[in-house]
Amino acid sequence: MTNATVQAYRASLLHFHADPAFTPDAHHWHEDGLLVVADGKVRAAGDYATLRATLPPGTAVHDHRGKLITPGFIDTHIHYPQTDMIGSPAPGLLPWLDTYTFPTERRFEDPAHAERVAEFFLDELLRCGTTTALVYCTVHPQSVDAFFTASEKRGLRMAAGKVLMDRHCPDFLRDCAESGGRDSEALIQRWHKRGRALYALTPRFAPTSTEAQLVVAGELARKYPDIYIQSHVAENEDECRWALELFPSARSYLDVYDKYGLLRPRAVYGHCIWLDERDRARMAETQAAVAVCPTSNLFLGSGLFDFERADQAGMLLSLATDVGGGTSFSMLQTMNEAYKVARLKGSYLPALRMFYLATLGAARSLRLEGTIGGFAAGAEADFIVLDPQATPLLARRTAHCDSLEELLFALALLGDDRAIAATYAAGREVHRRA
Ligand code: GUN
Ligand code: ZN
Repeated sequence: MTNATVQAYRASLLHFHADPAFTPDAHHWHEDGLLVVADGKVRAAGDYATLRATLPPGTAVHDHRGKLITPGFIDTHIHYPQTDMIGSPAPGLLPWLDTYTFPTERRFEDPAHAERVAEFFLDELLRCGTTTALVYCTVHPQSVDAFFTASEKRGLRMAAGKVLMDRHCPDFLRDCAESGGRDSEALIQRWHKRGRALYALTPRFAPTSTEAQLVVAGELARKYPDIYIQSHVAENEDECRWALELFPSARSYLDVYDKYGLLRPRAVYGHCIWLDERDRARMAETQAAVAVCPTSNLFLGSGLFDFERADQAGMLLSLATDVGGGTSFSMLQTMNEAYKVARLKGSYLPALRMFYLATLGAARSLRLEGTIGGFAAGAEADFIVLDPQATPLLARRTAHCDSLEELLFALALLGDDRAIAATYAAGREVHRRA
């Protein structure tokens, strides 16, 4: 290996090998650390004092001392077409969908519009330190092409898919069971595993799909076991009542997805607020994962996710923004509100756990452990440089932290896109803060 292909980054390093809620010493922390990257992959992560001797002579060492390197954040639930309607007011989920979401998504019929929004969206994620996301496009197949084209240009590991929606929506956004299935399959064949792209089958939520469409979705899920499935469940009480009216034979809202074979590994469900104990057990058993979306849940008044019950059931957890229902692209801001949601439910989320959920926890939910979300040798080199002195207030607060937990907590509670000094994807710099 020539020294030109090896790059090394000196900073404090943090990554995880286990969930700190269940395993003591689940994290690796190197106060004066070195991340060694070659050909877009992690070659080693450890103490600077140990690893510097292993570098080929003449290797460039990028000096980020005083800053913190972690794996890039992973956002497991976000809608790129809703970028332009972030922060739009409405009294709850269902009126918000009708008033803002559907008219905004209509514009993605135009591939040029889709391309412009996809470009902005990905740059904004990278500014916030998010290197992988599980992304909703719109019902239009061209919105998926625009997204993956923009993502491929940047060399990002992204999962996304075309929304399936064949009822209870405006005509201009409606597919049908047959066309939705055919379009999804064509997109799977075009994009799944092309470069770093991964496909996600995307029935919007049970109320906007007929039984016929859910049958088709279940068939595709069986035929392509390594694609993702993403949807919404148990976000809002009105939505839950509506779902049960539409599917009277289901035991619960979650049970609708179960009946059609849509609970399985690589299935990720947004929200999961109003689940009962049987639902939680079923999620754990099938290894379907939860995307917890606190900024969205507080903004839309949907409810408070129960971390304690989810952990008791052994559910796979991750954090997500749910932009445009969510009010920030930043996973730090998302941690901030997750922490408060946990407090309001009488439980406690340490900062270390929140950083786990936004990195390795999400990678596990996506079955991508060893590929992203950590610094094991051979992992893809998606990482960020966090600056504890990014703002005057952060600098003042982090000047006297007595523990790693205090430092991470300050970054989560006071940080946002300004705390991301640089973002790297597959070893390439894709954002640097001016
Ligand atoms: N449920 C169905 N569609 C949506 C959406 O676009 N956003 C959110 N937050 N919930 C939904
Ligand atoms: Zn959503």
